[in-house]
Amino acid sequence: MKKTYLLLFIIVGLFQQTSAKEGMWIPYLLEKINASDMQAMGMRITAEDIYNVNQPSLKDAIVFFGRGCTGEIVSDKGLLLTNHHCGYGQIQKHSTIDHDYLTDGFWAMNMAEELKNPNLSARILTSMSDVTAEVLDGITDAMSQNERNDIISENAKKIIEDLEPTKFHRVDVRAFYNGNQYILMEYNVFFDVRLVGAPPSNIGKFGGDTDNWMWPRHTGDFSVFRIYANAENKACEIADNNIPYKPKQHLKISLNGYKEGDFTFIFGYPGRTQEYIPARQVEYITQTMNPFKIDLRRKKLDIMSNAMNNDKKIRIQYSAKYAGVANGWKKWIGENTGIKGNNAIAEKQEMESSFTEWANDGHKEYATVIEEYNKLIEEKIPYEMAYTYFIEAGYYQDLIKYSYSYTALINTAADMDATDEEFNQKLQAFISSTDRFYKDFNIDVDLAIFKETVRAFHSFPYEGISTPKFVETINTKYNGNTDKYAEYVYSKSVFTSKEKLVKYLNKTNRKKISKLSKDPMYNHSFDAYATYINNISPVLSSFTNKTDSLQRIYMKGLIEFNSDKTLAADANSTLRIAYGKVQAFNPRDAVKYNYFTTLKGIMQKEDPDIYDYVVMPKLKALYNERDFGKYGDTDGSMHVCFIASNHTTGGNSGSPALNANGDLIGINFDRNWEGTMSDLNYDISRCRNIMLDIRYCLFIIDKYAGAGHLVEEMTFVE
Ligand code: ARG
Ligand code: GLU
Repeated sequence: MKKTYLLLFIIVGLFQQTSAKEGMWIPYLLEKINASDMQAMGMRITAEDIYNVNQPSLKDAIVFFGRGCTGEIVSDKGLLLTNHHCGYGQIQKHSTIDHDYLTDGFWAMNMAEELKNPNLSARILTSMSDVTAEVLDGITDAMSQNERNDIISENAKKIIEDLEPTKFHRVDVRAFYNGNQYILMEYNVFFDVRLVGAPPSNIGKFGGDTDNWMWPRHTGDFSVFRIYANAENKACEIADNNIPYKPKQHLKISLNGYKEGDFTFIFGYPGRTQEYIPARQVEYITQTMNPFKIDLRRKKLDIMSNAMNNDKKIRIQYSAKYAGVANGWKKWIGENTGIKGNNAIAEKQEMESSFTEWANDGHKEYATVIEEYNKLIEEKIPYEMAYTYFIEAGYYQDLIKYSYSYTALINTAADMDATDEEFNQKLQAFISSTDRFYKDFNIDVDLAIFKETVRAFHSFPYEGISTPKFVETINTKYNGNTDKYAEYVYSKSVFTSKEKLVKYLNKTNRKKISKLSKDPMYNHSFDAYATYINNISPVLSSFTNKTDSLQRIYMKGLIEFNSDKTLAADANSTLRIAYGKVQAFNPRDAVKYNYFTTLKGIMQKEDPDIYDYVVMPKLKALYNERDFGKYGDTDGSMHVCFIASNHTTGGNSGSPALNANGDLIGINFDRNWEGTMSDLNYDISRCRNIMLDIRYCLFIIDKYAGAGHLVEEMTFVE
């Protein structure tokens, strides 16, 4: 009997060793924590090949791209691959009706044609190390979170200043495990990152928002950029005479594909996960917060899509905005379904009971943490909801956000220390900002969305939280009719057209500009922001302090409670590695999804009447002639996308998918809908990451776009 148990234990142990692991792991700790596990799963390289500060390693090719994506360098001339949806903003900004790169794609046929992008940066990690002891120096358990935060920021500041950061040399000290560990990171930050190529949207965004977050998928979600450096190969600002950046190492590409069960890993910058929050918080997120956001976003999406379908100009203006709104909307729907389907809340509650039992039995410092935490959550929910309303109905409304930005101008005018020249410069900057803002603005769409946001603000139960002034105005002057109020605002404001606003700004001066604060649109924005800044944010930050403290203690407890395994730290936009296997899955009873898709599937989805499912004649011809070049699979088909059990999240978009040898086989871009709850509750039986097959990416660059010169820059393995 005993023997069988022992055997079972060994088998279970072995199984755990060689199956995919939940979590996003810290590169410099790979050797200590994961390397042997990764090798047991099939990896043939070492932790040092992946991360090394003294020798070139894979990490030198991984880039934090823009405001929250990942990219990878694939040539010794700084050529970079990321997702189409990560470069979307840039592609869209360079697009007009006359040269619509969104619809038609863009390819620089030589370096001179590559397009510069102000406001785009690429950040490469140079080193990371543990600084927990230094950061926590002087901290005692008895301190309040406030005192603790003060000391931590003082200590961190010292560490950072010693390393003499500049705009091009960024130094961060970041909390891991909710403040139980601190890691120092240094980066080079490049500001000259040029657009090299993008496929047309009906490749790069094939399936659009309909297929988004779903498997089976056929999206060629990639775009190509290049990092430029100064003559010394150092990070610098945009300049005509910059030269292509020569990285310490670039990724090698494998055209050999993969089969089911193959080891893979994702190396990139996952943004945020919350695997260790209490069940009550998960319940709040999925049952209160998400439903509100989903509902309001659905309304915004309907307004935009109606307008976009009827007008090509509006389609270009609102495409990026639409994609952004739709992406969250759909993800949260999936998240809610997954949490419910997985019975995640009840399971978390059960785990919490055993945790508390364990705590009561010799770990008293954790005995009341969940109870206290739950009480706190109840108290802060009204404020979290108020914040969510402000963000979704206020901050994410074009004209509210834009008109509020004029506060800076009004403040400069009133600032005794500011010279007239400073004011005039600022005024000119605002006048030129109108070009950028109104290029993508349509008054009918904006007003319709504004009406929905006003309705939402008006319906919020402000119990105990002071109401924005305009809500009272609506009640007293408009009899509660939010539409009438919205129409009044838009009929009287100077912000509703570029012409009106520019005319106004050209006539104004330092004395007169304060009158702008009487503008009804500005007034509305100011009220919304003021309510947030004065009444919501301060309360919320006092809650944040308490939450931080409880979450840190709870996390510490969870680590001890789970002493038989290593828990991965939640994602926090720092460089991580997730590993797993190429793996099919069963989404529901009797259904099995294969682990890859092919070009044939694109032909099956084709619909010339729907923008997102148009297939260009050239792609069809290549398919009909099976003209796949060296990019076809040995099975004779052209693979498009594939899935694996790597634990990823937002921010991992554009991350390289690497094989057992550390060679590039794909570009990560999404997850399956059944698995988007993995940010709160990862489950290998439901969660897959979706990657673009690198062979399809290169097939499009080379055979479809005729940009083979880019492929020639790259390095291939046998
Ligand atoms: N779901 C992916 C991510 O979270 C892709 C989003 C862009 N694509 C889109 N159709 N909106 O970023
Ligand atoms: N599309 C996501 C991104 O932009 C990655 C997919 C995910 O959330 O896993 O980062």
